[in-house]
Amino acid sequence: MKKRNALASLALGLTACFPAAHAQGTGQLNVVCSVQDEWCSLMSTAFARSAGIKVNVLKRGSGEALAQLLTERSNPKTDLWFGGTGDPHLQAAEQDLTLSYKSPSLPQLHPWAQAQAEQSQWRTVGVYSGPLGFAFNTELLAKKKLPAPKCWKDLLSPALRGEIQVANPASSGTAYTMIATLVQLMGEDQAFAYMKGLHKNVSQYSRSGTGPIKAASRGETTVSISFVHDAPSEQMQGFPIETSTPCEGTGAEIGSMSIVKGARNLENAKKFYEWALTPAAQQLAAAAHQYQLPANKSAGLDSHIPDFRKIRLIDYDYAKYGRSAERKRLIERWEREVNSLPH
Ligand code: G6P
Repeated sequence: MKKRNALASLALGLTACFPAAHAQGTGQLNVVCSVQDEWCSLMSTAFARSAGIKVNVLKRGSGEALAQLLTERSNPKTDLWFGGTGDPHLQAAEQDLTLSYKSPSLPQLHPWAQAQAEQSQWRTVGVYSGPLGFAFNTELLAKKKLPAPKCWKDLLSPALRGEIQVANPASSGTAYTMIATLVQLMGEDQAFAYMKGLHKNVSQYSRSGTGPIKAASRGETTVSISFVHDAPSEQMQGFPIETSTPCEGTGAEIGSMSIVKGARNLENAKKFYEWALTPAAQQLAAAAHQYQLPANKSAGLDSHIPDFRKIRLIDYDYAKYGRSAERKRLIERWEREVNSLPH
């Protein structure tokens, strides 16, 4: 409760600096939000206060958000989709679910955020980035006398039987990022052989991408496959959680934002979109204890944001793995060959 109040007053403080022109908007805005609740709430409170626009927020995982837009295709209720991994945003673009909108702020963004916009013909844009890795409960590792995982191959150790959690790629963009990363690192057949081995050690595939790191923090599992920028907020709550990024290499997400085609509150959606790309709004992530790398080059960088220079990153092919047919095919193959196996 105390934390919520603190966040609300922080939102008030920050929005006091926004341009007055924003304060005259009317109406409302329906946002599907695929980042953590704290950030969704702070974004909607801050925007509502600065623009005078009521924001209705629905939290959905990246895969679930795409499924929702597909369901609403003939009668959209959602105006804007904020956050979540970039691949399903690219898929939404390809499926003509989102609107082409070229923001005048694009030159203020990092090249990776602009590239996301360009390759979707401006139907989406990068708003943040973050690397995939491992999170582990240090107390449980010590108790079980297990070494901290450093490489993908370490997760196949029989000592980790039933000790790992990762999300389900159908609902979670985090888990789809893992599949796409492994396929790019190892080649497809080897990646599926790896995931079949990993399956023996996975106790459960959660709906949400952050479920596994929360479970590891609380001692419900020892290791999770997670975005490493999700760890500091767990550490700040006092949980014994640390992270590493795989020695063989890893992928990074380009968290994205899209305006829905046929949005009923289109002008408000554009206002939110422009505001969300400003340095002030981008810094609300860290204010909500979320530590992705902001897309705007001028946004201040919190010290908890992972240092990308120290991470062995693959050259992730966002266009290929954001293609509808590719995402569908890989998830179906995972369901058929991995998820259906007994543990
Ligand atoms: C968390 C991370 C975000 C990521 C999102 C994906 O909120 O902080 O960086 O985009 O998970 O969620 P999903 O449930 O789709 O894996």
